[in-house]
This record gives sequence, C-alpha cells and structure tokens, in this order.
Amino acid sequence: MRTQFPAGFVLGAATSAYQIEGAVDEDGRGPSIWDTFVRRPGRVVGGHHGDVAIDHYHRFAEDVAIMADLGLTAYRFSVSWPRIQPDGSGNINPKGLDFYKRLMDELLSKDIQPWLTLYHWDLPQTLEDRGGWPERDTAYRFADYAAAVHEALHDRVHTWATVNEPWCAAFLGYASGEHAPGRREPENALKAAHHLNLAHGLAVQAIRPSRVGGCVNLYAITPATDDPRDVAAAKKIDGLQNRLFLDALLKGTYPDDIPINPVSGDMEVISAPIDVLLVNYYSRYIVSGTEPGRASASAAPTDSGSPWVGAEDVAFLDGGRPVTAMGWEIDADGLREVLTRVARDYPPIPLVVSENGAAFDDVLDDGRVRDADRIAYLDAHLEACRAAIDEGVPLEGYFAWSLMDNFEWAWGYGKRFGLVHVDFETQRRLPKDSALWYADIIRQNERHEPTDS
Ligand code: FCB
Repeated sequence: MRTQFPAGFVLGAATSAYQIEGAVDEDGRGPSIWDTFVRRPGRVVGGHHGDVAIDHYHRFAEDVAIMADLGLTAYRFSVSWPRIQPDGSGNINPKGLDFYKRLMDELLSKDIQPWLTLYHWDLPQTLEDRGGWPERDTAYRFADYAAAVHEALHDRVHTWATVNEPWCAAFLGYASGEHAPGRREPENALKAAHHLNLAHGLAVQAIRPSRVGGCVNLYAITPATDDPRDVAAAKKIDGLQNRLFLDALLKGTYPDDIPINPVSGDMEVISAPIDVLLVNYYSRYIVSGTEPGRASASAAPTDSGSPWVGAEDVAFLDGGRPVTAMGWEIDADGLREVLTRVARDYPPIPLVVSENGAAFDDVLDDGRVRDADRIAYLDAHLEACRAAIDEGVPLEGYFAWSLMDNFEWAWGYGKRFGLVHVDFETQRRLPKDSALWYADIIRQNERHEPTDS
C-alpha cells in the first residue's frame, strides 16, 4: 500500500513563468530582470536564457493535456509581471492577461485547480532601474499589479500565492548576486527582504476576499555539535532563512538579531491573516560556528558572494547524506521537521507543500527515462508529509517541483527537475517513470477518497 492521504488532499505539480514560458518579446511583454541578467557574461551556466525556454506560452494546451493524463488535482504556476505591466506600473496589457485566462480555462475544463503565484522572481526591469526591491515603492507597485491581476482573473483562480520564496529574491538577488538582478549589496538585501514581505501583505489586502497565502522556502537546520558557538550559528541561519519570513508573516515580528527597521504599521500589514502557508522544501543545513566548512550550503554555479548577511563566518558542513544533482543533501525527515515546527511554533494555519523535488542526471534511453532516484526522493518526501499529518499538522496538499524540465536559473538547462522530460531542441515532452508513478499515487488516493469522506 502506497502513501494514502486524507480525502481532499491536493496532489499537484508546480512551475514558474520565466522558467517555462519563453515568448519573451511576444504580445507586448516587457523585459524583466531575468531577461537582462541572462545577457550578462558569466551569470548563467552555458549562457543559457529563457527566451524560448520550453515554449509553454505556445504549448500550454499540450502541457495541460499532460497534467490531465497524470490526473493532477492542481497546477501551481506563476504570472509574469512584465506580461501584465510591461513597464512595471500603470498600463495593463490585456494580451498578457488573456494568456493566463486561456491557460486557466484549459485547466478548469480538465478539472485541475489553478494555483496562481503572483511573483516568481521576474521583476519588470523598469522597476529595478528605479531601485528594485531595496526601494519601498516596489512593494506598492506590486500591490497595484496584484489588484489588476485579481480583478481580471479572480473567478478562475483556486488559490493565490503572493511572493515565491522571498529569501531567494532578496538574498540571491541582492546579497550573493547569484540570481537577477545580480547585486552584491548586503544591506540592500535586508531592505529587499522587508519590502518583499511588505509586498506580500499589501497584495493580500489587494486580492481579498479570495483565498490567499504566502510562500516561503524553509530548511531544516541542525547545529554541527552542541557547542554553543555551533548552536548560535544554527540560530543565526534559521533566523535569516526561516524566521525572517515565518515570524513576519505569522507573528508580525522580526528576529531581534536581524537589523531591519520597519516603518510603523508595516508589521500589521505583513502579518494580516492568510488562509494557507505555502512551504517549499528541498534540504537540510548542518551549520557550524567553530569548524571550517563551505561558506554556503551548496556550490553556486557562477562567481557569487555570500547570501548570509551578517553570518558570513558561519560554515556549512557536509551531513554525509546522498545528494541530488544540485549537490543538495536528501533528507526527507527534514520536511516532516519543518512542517511540525510551523504547526508547533506558530498560530494555527493550514499548510501546503508548494514545491518539493530533485534534479538528477536523467538518461533518456529507448523512449523512457528510468528515474528511480527521483521516485525514491518523492516517495520519501510524501511519506514525510504523511508522518506530519499523523502528528497533527494541518497539511492540505503537495506540489512536486517541477511538472516539466525547465530553465533552472543560474544553472541553465543542465539541471532537470521535471516529472516530464523535455527535449530542449525539439520541445518534445515525455513523461518520465516518476510521472507515471506519481499518476499512480494520485489514482490510489482518489479511489480511497469516498471511504474517508
Ligand atoms: C526553488 C524555486 C524554483 C526552482 C526550485 C528548484 O527555489 O522556487 O523556481 O528553481 O527551487
């Protein structure tokens, strides 16, 4: 018997706009910070870019048909802000909205719930030119954009998510420079983090009364030893990675060792009630304040600085676990740990795992991708979800990252996370063994539903 979930449990898959859509110059889309960043020499492995990506903009109907074949309950995607507002503010581009209407009509016709994320890192370039996320005004521009998307699309969306992984947007974008816009300005990264949180809160106001949540990437974090310096290092990293966002959204506070000075009233906006918290989970960090180790949890693909503002001296150690093709340690119990932690330490809130998955060096052989390692990864993490539910966590769903192989940011197309293999030359889609396995899990859960409800 495979993992069984309570009735109504959502089993879906996720993607994001810049990673899959392509069509960067079509139908009035403006440039985003990623369009600019990928053109800078040495910023993305192989000089790869998302100009065409996996051509989802033109192939969305085929992609939705694949989702329907797999039996997905839900599909989490993101809207490209510069498709809707090519200049980042003011005029709305109806053709941009039309694309997402057509996508969601297709999803709804196949009974797949649309889960819409408003921001998955593709800031309009004009807003970066005006200062980007370190600039407070960007949060207000985001609220305007959110209101416009909500007005046009609210009748089709099942669940809204505001900002995907503000940690990455702030610290990879403005501290380490691994991601667009590629700045290395630690103090501005903290400002960016606060304004991304503020953007979340303002967007929640803008799209009420629809069902909405924030989206954070949480890590399980363990001190290397019980030496107080290791414990302090772990606390520091937990503050930057997890509590900077969890405490803000769910309690209206910031960790006291992180120097952010919110304007009066900001924390009330940021912590306004939400309906669900979307949690992305990939790995565990083992951190030390005493031993030498790597300056970051995993190797960056390109020349970049430290994302750990104020904790640059903390070392990340090898935990000795098997790793994925990203070099990320596989630790499914870490997922159970972060879910139970949120349930224990914060006011009650329904949770959803909104991203979880793994890159492996897949081989397409004889018309098949036998990705047993990915199946094992997903299976273990679904079991961890089940265990968290058994411990009382109000977990409502799980989204695999990703539906299809795609543009993995600074890593380019070299890292494949998909359940569905994509030939980047021909754009041919082929469900991997993991996709067929996942479809089976979904079918078994559906069969079991009536007896549970
Ligand atoms: C997450 C991102 C997603 C993808 C996965 C592997 O941090 O949200 O776009 O890159 O990691």
